[in-house]
Amino acid sequence: MIKYLEEDEWNVIEKDFHPNHQRSSESIFSIGNGRFGQRANFEETYSGDSLQGSYIAGVYYPDKTKVGWWKNGYPEYFAKVLNSVNWIGVNVWVNGEEVDLAKAEVIYFERKLNMKHGLLQRNCTVKLENGMQVTLVTERFCSMANDDLAALKYTVSTDQDAEVRIESYLDADVSNEDTNWDEKFWVEGETNSFDSGLSLSCATKKTDYHVGVAMVSELSVAHQLLDVSEEEFAQMKVTERFQTQVKANQQVELTKFICLVNSMNVPKADVLNEAEKGAGQAHTLGYDSLKSAHESAWESIWETSDIVIEGDVAAQQGIRFNIFHLNQTYSGKDDRLNIGPKGFTGEKYGGSTYWDTEAYCIPFYLGTHDSAIARQLLVYRFKQLDKAIENAEKLGFKNGAALYPMVTMTGEECHNEWEITFEEIHRNGAITFAIYNYVRFTNDKSYLAEYGLDVLMGISRFWAQRVNWSEAKGAYVMLGVTGPNEYENNVNNNWYTNYIARWCLKYTLKVIIELKENDPDAYAEKVAKYQFNEKEETLLWADILEKMYLPQMEGSEVFLQQDGFLDKEQLNVADLAKEDRPINQKWSWDRILRSIFIKQADVLQGMYFFAHHFTDEQVEANFDFYEPKTVHESSLSPCIHVILASRINRQEKAYELYLRTSRLDLDDYNHEAYQGLHITAMAGTWMAVVEGFGGMKVEGHQLALSPSLPKQWDAFNFRVNFRGSAVRVNVTKDGTNLSLETGQALTVLLHGKQVEVY
Ligand code: BGC
Repeated sequence: MIKYLEEDEWNVIEKDFHPNHQRSSESIFSIGNGRFGQRANFEETYSGDSLQGSYIAGVYYPDKTKVGWWKNGYPEYFAKVLNSVNWIGVNVWVNGEEVDLAKAEVIYFERKLNMKHGLLQRNCTVKLENGMQVTLVTERFCSMANDDLAALKYTVSTDQDAEVRIESYLDADVSNEDTNWDEKFWVEGETNSFDSGLSLSCATKKTDYHVGVAMVSELSVAHQLLDVSEEEFAQMKVTERFQTQVKANQQVELTKFICLVNSMNVPKADVLNEAEKGAGQAHTLGYDSLKSAHESAWESIWETSDIVIEGDVAAQQGIRFNIFHLNQTYSGKDDRLNIGPKGFTGEKYGGSTYWDTEAYCIPFYLGTHDSAIARQLLVYRFKQLDKAIENAEKLGFKNGAALYPMVTMTGEECHNEWEITFEEIHRNGAITFAIYNYVRFTNDKSYLAEYGLDVLMGISRFWAQRVNWSEAKGAYVMLGVTGPNEYENNVNNNWYTNYIARWCLKYTLKVIIELKENDPDAYAEKVAKYQFNEKEETLLWADILEKMYLPQMEGSEVFLQQDGFLDKEQLNVADLAKEDRPINQKWSWDRILRSIFIKQADVLQGMYFFAHHFTDEQVEANFDFYEPKTVHESSLSPCIHVILASRINRQEKAYELYLRTSRLDLDDYNHEAYQGLHITAMAGTWMAVVEGFGGMKVEGHQLALSPSLPKQWDAFNFRVNFRGSAVRVNVTKDGTNLSLETGQALTVLLHGKQVEVY
């Protein structure tokens, strides 16, 4: 745990400059608007350790696969989210010396992420080698009201009369740290000067996305506008320079209006022109009105997605931090986009889609946004069904079996470690679960007839071919898989994978029966489209689900993570020395694989998904066995344990793990915030409060709640959507109060009792 940030309910604050944590701060203070986003790099030159990061949703580069030893079936490329045009660039010289926080003496420093209004602010005073004290006050935002726009204000003052030079620039000559072949991913387009500013365009190699960015820079001294003294057009970079003499404490204020468009939304030939138009309009509107539209957009988001925790500032800040980042990563406005595990905060995971979306993000969007957004995320996978079938074919499966990729931009598999690409096949299960979850939450059964069954059939066909009959066991087994716990590879009979595969078959059979009855034409169409041999295929599925092998500890309720799990040295995390943590940074890979330590919820992930299949006693037995062995080195893990711990009344454990999930990045538990934030796990934090402490689930056709208030809190409240209505759940020491915020009255199960909410 690394703690250097202040606790506050609505803000993240860094007091005093921490250059050794600069990369982490750049991640934590990132801002974005669903279309593009920016790490919290300083606007001005910073020669210290830093990761430049400016990302555009969906704009990627297929970086040719590089592996030590090629294996048949490996994908051609790994999709990379691209560090793109640096639009924040501002450089400052005072009496000829450049301001650079890595070189100057930092006298005062405060950086603030205002989460209520989506603003990144900084206030600092530095002493240059020439003796001048310079104060910088900066603010910037990526507009939530108009997702082509961003703006920043950059104010400089000095303690003595001085000559100040300021540059405002756009720079497309940028690179990724994460590149397989040390290549640059961008090619030059045009540079231009228009009415009020400068612009440039560039394009990605191979994928040929065109990006246009325009800036209008306005500089004033004592409220008097100053003319640009020089413009420079370099290859992939445009710069405007200003020069002025200032008096001591006089403010030089630069306002920069940015418009950033790309060819996913604008014809390639028009990107420059459209960006110029947008920046010009932003300039005409002015900083204050752009900012107030942006702030109002954030206020509306908070109205539906805020969670209020009273009496515990660290917990409150944690949940807001998570909700804030999720909303600025994925707005649901574009059905081609999905949610990368790092969002706009770093290069790791390539900005691609993982099972994280279905297992973690969909519940968040179902609970807090219009259900059309969760539906759109499901349709995203439906549209990639052909590719999933192709992926499976490449691995030798046939007859329309679909294996969704572990990592993807376009539906094609991008991951290239065999133990994950070929073996972490449980992702198919989460995609199925998400369809089921969406339907039970929204009651939108039309989804199954329209898109859902197609995906279910492809996935069920895959499972039916992936298992094999074991004579020795007299059961179907699944060999050579990797479960959610990636600290085990190539195992046989991972309980979670076998269980979810079996459930997928069962659910598909149920949907088939229902659709046949309710919409025979739609069903007949699917049979024809997929040449579905109903009798033969469903008989096989029924046989598999009846005879699937599920490893269990003899004489106990504990399900075994995989065959041979008990052969391992039976240790607990408490037996590990502090210096050994996190083990993924301290131990060799083979040592990790042989050890008992579990990266993330695996058996327990299954018990979370299928809560209603298991008794509290079963959950207790498995929780007590697995939690002490889990190192939670995947961000996706602690939230699941919070939910199960709450269910079995382990309040202290639930609270401890809640802090871990909600403050994972703020307190850098896993020492990796420098790589970017754990955006998809943030949805898990929401689940931890709503499904954990709130005890929310769907029982039959009803919303059910069984809240329990952690003793560290005075009260908490959240809002949750259910089948067209929105219910506010307010939990205090005196009990739970439910009120209807929108939609029709509904009956809710509260601690097992029917309650009318109107
Ligand atoms: C986890 C995976 C997850 C990925 C992206 C990995 O560390 O083990 O389950 O999908 O991160 O979040």
